[in-house]
Amino acid sequence: MPQSSNAHAQEFGTQPIGIPGTQVRVSRIALGTWAMGGWMWGGTDESESVATIRAALDQGINLIDTAPVYGFGVSEEIVGKALEGTQLGRHAIISTKVGLEWRNGTVYKNATPARIMQEIDASLRRLRTDHIDIYHVHWPDPLVPIEETAGAMRTLYEQGKIGAIGVSNFSVAQMERFRKVAPLHVLQPPYNLFERDIEAEILPYCRAHGIVTFGYGALCRGLLSGRMRADTVFDGDDLRRLDPKFQPPRYAQYLAAVERLDQLAHDRFNRRVIHLAVRWMLDQGISVALWGGRHPDQLQATHGVGGWRLDAGMRARIDRILSETITDPVGPEFMAPAQRSS
Ligand SMILES: NC(=O)c1ccc[n+]([C@@H]2O[C@H](COP(=O)([O-])OP(=O)(O)OC[C@H]3O[C@@H](n4cnc5c(N)ncnc54)[C@H](OP(=O)(O)O)[C@@H]3O)[C@@H](O)[C@H]2O)c1
Repeated sequence: MPQSSNAHAQEFGTQPIGIPGTQVRVSRIALGTWAMGGWMWGGTDESESVATIRAALDQGINLIDTAPVYGFGVSEEIVGKALEGTQLGRHAIISTKVGLEWRNGTVYKNATPARIMQEIDASLRRLRTDHIDIYHVHWPDPLVPIEETAGAMRTLYEQGKIGAIGVSNFSVAQMERFRKVAPLHVLQPPYNLFERDIEAEILPYCRAHGIVTFGYGALCRGLLSGRMRADTVFDGDDLRRLDPKFQPPRYAQYLAAVERLDQLAHDRFNRRVIHLAVRWMLDQGISVALWGGRHPDQLQATHGVGGWRLDAGMRARIDRILSETITDPVGPEFMAPAQRSS
């Protein structure tokens, strides 16, 4: 790992973590590249995106998360371009996904073995590589027995095309079935201060079974960045025009929570809400926080995450702020892709 990576890892307050059963080591903050695909984020800027990926690597973030569906190939293409031929790119850990198809702009779950075998080659080509470090099943497909999906993932792992197997948006019962057929190294669930369903069963299960967790939506699609205002405008197909958290009157509750958390971060730690949100995830025991970004300057804030801790008392205080301000909470379910009819 290059010198700069170690320095920044120290700053997060932790060394990179190993994924049990694999050779893969990852930083505890990862760069998420969904927005770089443009689709559902109001468009993309390729050179800005490439610069963001390189800035992440330069700052010691070695894990880059993408997926074929992000911009229907665009995000993976951008990741491939950013990493190719650069010194830092050689040290990057690529995390991508499989099992969603798109037709006329609509996305469907499709985790058949045939689809998986077809998609891997397309992803390798777009990513300009012959190996994917971490390969996730993006969503469970109710039309395909989980054992069949797991069997295909196991084949890819045994062939050496992928270095670790992940699943995303899976329940405990689904992981149990998967693990009877294939090793499972990583779970990628939604997780942030406002979306905490995994705390009851999924996080304890992953901890008990040595499954590393990549919590996605660390900033709750920017809500926890502190940038959002009641009159913030989102362009084009930006998903925040549909996200139920961003719709009045509920939006005001989330903004009020952010304001109080920002005050707390400032008064107690001389930090801002964006730092507190990601520090909180790591201190809650998630392995990795997936931070979405598309401009290099958005990653400056990662430096405020390290060097401090939220103890149990402070986390209880945060919980009180959330329950006092958000009286009508809603989850991330609106993001679930459609099911095929057959
Ligand atoms: N497995 C799955 O099903 C799944 C689902 C969702 C996400 N993910 C993964 O998780 C990653 C992260 O989630 P996410 O992209 O949904 O969102 P996120 O991390 O919750 O929020 C990302 C957004 O926050 C804003 N932001 C970031 N840094 C900022 C800063 N310093 N100041 C102000 N605003 C800032 C940006 O919005 P603007 O650019 O608009 O300002 C950015 O696009 C994704 O990119 C993807 O890799 C996986």
